[in-house]
Amino acid sequence: MSSNSTLSVDNKAVDLAVKEGTIGPSVIDISKLYGQTGMFTYDPGFTSTASCESKITYIDGDKGVLLYRGYPIDQLAEHGDFLETCYLLLYGELPTAAQKADFDYRVTRHTMVHDQMNRFFTGFRRDAHPMAIMVACVGALSAFYHDSTDISDPHQRMVASMRMIAKMPTLAAMAYKYHVGQPFVYPQNDLDYTSNFLRMCFAVPAEEYKVNPVLSRALDRIFILHADHEQNASTSTVRLAGSSGANPFACIAAGIACLWGPAHGGANEAALKMLEEIGTPDKIPMYIAKAKDKNDPFRLMGFGHRVYKNYDPRARIMQKTTHEVLSELGIKDDPLLDVAMELEQIALKDDYFVEKKLYPNIDFYSGITLKAMGFPTSMFTVLFALARTVGWIAQWSEMIEDPSQRIGRPRQLYTGSPERDYVTVAQRG
Ligand code: CMC
Repeated sequence: MSSNSTLSVDNKAVDLAVKEGTIGPSVIDISKLYGQTGMFTYDPGFTSTASCESKITYIDGDKGVLLYRGYPIDQLAEHGDFLETCYLLLYGELPTAAQKADFDYRVTRHTMVHDQMNRFFTGFRRDAHPMAIMVACVGALSAFYHDSTDISDPHQRMVASMRMIAKMPTLAAMAYKYHVGQPFVYPQNDLDYTSNFLRMCFAVPAEEYKVNPVLSRALDRIFILHADHEQNASTSTVRLAGSSGANPFACIAAGIACLWGPAHGGANEAALKMLEEIGTPDKIPMYIAKAKDKNDPFRLMGFGHRVYKNYDPRARIMQKTTHEVLSELGIKDDPLLDVAMELEQIALKDDYFVEKKLYPNIDFYSGITLKAMGFPTSMFTVLFALARTVGWIAQWSEMIEDPSQRIGRPRQLYTGSPERDYVTVAQRG
């Protein structure tokens, strides 16, 4: 269903079509506005701009709702597994048992990386941040798998997608192993996706490694929670990079680079560092005061969200997962968890946070969980990138298949110097 809205520009009425989605706010189609008025719209940070039409993920930030292809995130996290979520995001429907078995098999058969990739790693310093390694290695996949870079071929697009979903855990584990100075562990195909990843990270050749099913299930759930989040900064980066026809490996590398920032995927690392810095619950009031002080750049990491103006639904599941993991590992008193829970309670009652609708987001608890599992803080964002790869790929594919797709090319409000003549160095005062 569509309707119209009227905008008055310089006393001239301009009719603009209104497009309706299945749920959520409608959009005013302004694509012809420049032609009709000679004016652009201005929306830094895209707070009121829908950049595309999508059928993949829906968020209601006021109610704290997150749906993948219509399914609530808590139901998927409770009953499903990560590869099933990948299938859902990519193909639009939950798989039948046969489709699931076939998909799992196909992903599993792509987990190894080209052996020459090992040499690529050794070019990095041992202390290189694993996200720096990921940006480089995922971009480099296009050099290793050039046979799947023709984006006009649907078969090649699907092969590239499977390769990335399958190889991300292998590359992420290699980045970790290189960082800690241990030999790379090859994938083992009789393990499920997440157990395989845990083994590639934590097994050493000197002894047998047994995957803990509780930790594997918890990490799998964390992957589900991070799998997609509609048009966030990194996903929009992937779409924009892909809109020029760039190959999918390069586009995902661009998404990883964007995700690295502390306002986005880097927040889980920053949140844990903040909890460590606070150290004990008695210091919380001081940090709350810093977060509220306009002259202090400090922010409560893991708090606030551009879209959620309610409790992030992923944070609720994450909090439960944190307790499960700590209990499985026999960690009864974790000082960081004590600080986190106390901080959350204080912030949720504080006028500043209440008025600005700043609630804990997914990153508030994920760091504590990942740390307890044995991951160093520098790996947190890598795990986010691993899980988000399927979302990026699904959004990239949707864009490529959209007949209305054009190269992304925002406009600007120019406030620089008007035209002026060049002056030679000798004549400049
Ligand atoms: N601590 C203190 N004040 C905050 C915080 C915070 N964490 N977040 C927002 N504010 C204040 C901000 O100072 C501003 O106040 P005022 O209106 O008086 O100027 C107001 O709330 C609105 O903030 P904003 O920066 O304009 O909001 P935004 O939508 O541009 O930013 C955000 C969203 C997530 C970048 C921001 O809340 C933030 O920096 N949070 C901390 C980092 C974080 O946890 N990021 C993870 C996001 S979830 C995972 C992901 O998507 O990657």
